[in-house]
Amino acid sequence: MKERILTGDRITGKLHLGHYVGSLKNRVELQNQYETYLLLADVQALTTHFEKPELIKQNLRYVALDYLSAGINPDQATIFIQSLIPEIAELTTYFSMFVTVNSLRHNPTIKAEAKERGFQDMYYGFLGYPVSQTADITFCKAALVPVGEDQLPHIEQTRRIVRRFNQLYKPVLVEPQALIGDIPRLVGLDGNKKMSKSLGNAIYLDSSREEVQEKIQKATTDPARIRKTDIGHPDICPIYAYHQAFRKEGSDEIYESCKKGQIGCMECKRNITQRINDLLEPIRERRIVYQNDPKKIDEILISGTKKARLAAKETMEEVREAMSMNYF
Ligand code: TRP
Repeated sequence: MKERILTGDRITGKLHLGHYVGSLKNRVELQNQYETYLLLADVQALTTHFEKPELIKQNLRYVALDYLSAGINPDQATIFIQSLIPEIAELTTYFSMFVTVNSLRHNPTIKAEAKERGFQDMYYGFLGYPVSQTADITFCKAALVPVGEDQLPHIEQTRRIVRRFNQLYKPVLVEPQALIGDIPRLVGLDGNKKMSKSLGNAIYLDSSREEVQEKIQKATTDPARIRKTDIGHPDICPIYAYHQAFRKEGSDEIYESCKKGQIGCMECKRNITQRINDLLEPIRERRIVYQNDPKKIDEILISGTKKARLAAKETMEEVREAMSMNYF
């Protein structure tokens, strides 16, 4: 039996290049080797978007379309909807009995997100989402979780919860490992260290050639460079970061020529625009095929959810047995 991968995305908007290099690329590459489960995290999206649940519905199929366009093969990978797996909610409840509030409050990603969103008194669901994420991962006994770097504290928390469960009851759950992409975090077009939708500094996977060109054109570069011959500082330039992320080779040369003032920012930008467009071209082509067949996306989601549900029921039987909650 193949080992399982599980990962997913909060359904808060369409996916961008940061998602691609952080985790989506790994998922596409590993789907042959592992039995892959991809979760559309609508419940987790509610932790920050409970006031606008209709946004989640609007984005759900769009994220599925992003997966398929990026090269996720629905014959290999199982794409499913979190809220339609009630066993995840059930597991979350059981885990929550032995997870302490302090361990959640000290989770650095929770802290950072709460600060970003101005949460004073933390919402119960938000504070507890790493517990629910543990249920996402363990219901199908995933061994590997491809995620961006910011998710590492959650995977650590998952591992602790699994160890505790296995030790308290019976060793039925699998302790997963995180898998981080080659580029753990992609900088934004404005030089902010994180590309993100809320910061408005992202290049989306559905961008046209022109949109990519325009965004790169406007992107921040090293402010010390006015003329081509000015000495550059590639380490602080987002365009150089993209060269590192999207060129297989040649970024060392760019680095050197920028430092020596031998390559201009315009040329550097043209060059990376071409690279990014080359990367997005097959994604655009697949998108057109699926976009013209919305029924197909629904079929994929329905059958993926059915399959995930079966795995969930299997694990739940073992969990209930381990906890002596199998009454009849
Ligand atoms: N928290 C993840 C994010 O914000 C999304 C997510 C939900 C997830 N459930 C998961 C990731 C399970 C990995 C495994 O990107």
